[in-house]
Amino acid sequence: MKTIYDLIHKKAKLYLDTRQNDIHTQISYNFAKRLLTYYPEADEHIVLPAILLHDVGWKMVPEDKQLDAFGPKLKDKDTQRFHELEGAKIATQVLISLGYNEEKTREISTIIDGHDTRLKALSLNDKLVKDADKLWRFTPTGINIDHSRFDIQRDFYLQWITPMIDAWFFAPEAKDMARESLCEAISEAATHRE
Ligand SMILES: [Fe+2]
Ligand SMILES: [Fe+2]
Repeated sequence: MKTIYDLIHKKAKLYLDTRQNDIHTQISYNFAKRLLTYYPEADEHIVLPAILLHDVGWKMVPEDKQLDAFGPKLKDKDTQRFHELEGAKIATQVLISLGYNEEKTREISTIIDGHDTRLKALSLNDKLVKDADKLWRFTPTGINIDHSRFDIQRDFYLQWITPMIDAWFFAPEAKDMARESLCEAISEAATHRE
């Protein structure tokens, strides 16, 4: 039996085949589901579609322009902002095409429009989306992809990202998950050195 999230994901995937966003989205979606178990007062009908659709806007950015527009070497803030605005538009179209609740669609679009550049969270739903988005960066897969695409040696990258746990996350449970993922990434890094 397909859920509405399967249908949203299927449509989102048409836009996620760039910047490894298909892998990123799947991992962040799993974190969002885990975070939701701690916050029954959050709305999964907002959080889950928002995380599935948050990065669809990258599809509108030529691949040779993407790398300057995120990560520790961010230079091109206009393009970073552009992926949010395009993402909010595409997400709205996708949700309308599925007949999704209009009020929820508006909130999802507002969350996507600002998911990277807006440092303050607007709501608990927004917090959980922001946390789930960033959690993937601490996983062994996220570390592998990011250190090589940013051309930063793995150990330096691990040193850079470790203090970000306190800087980036809202929910204490997200900090715990980041620490747990980072431990896995660090022990995996040790095997790379052997
Ligand atoms: Fe993003
Ligand atoms: Fe993201």
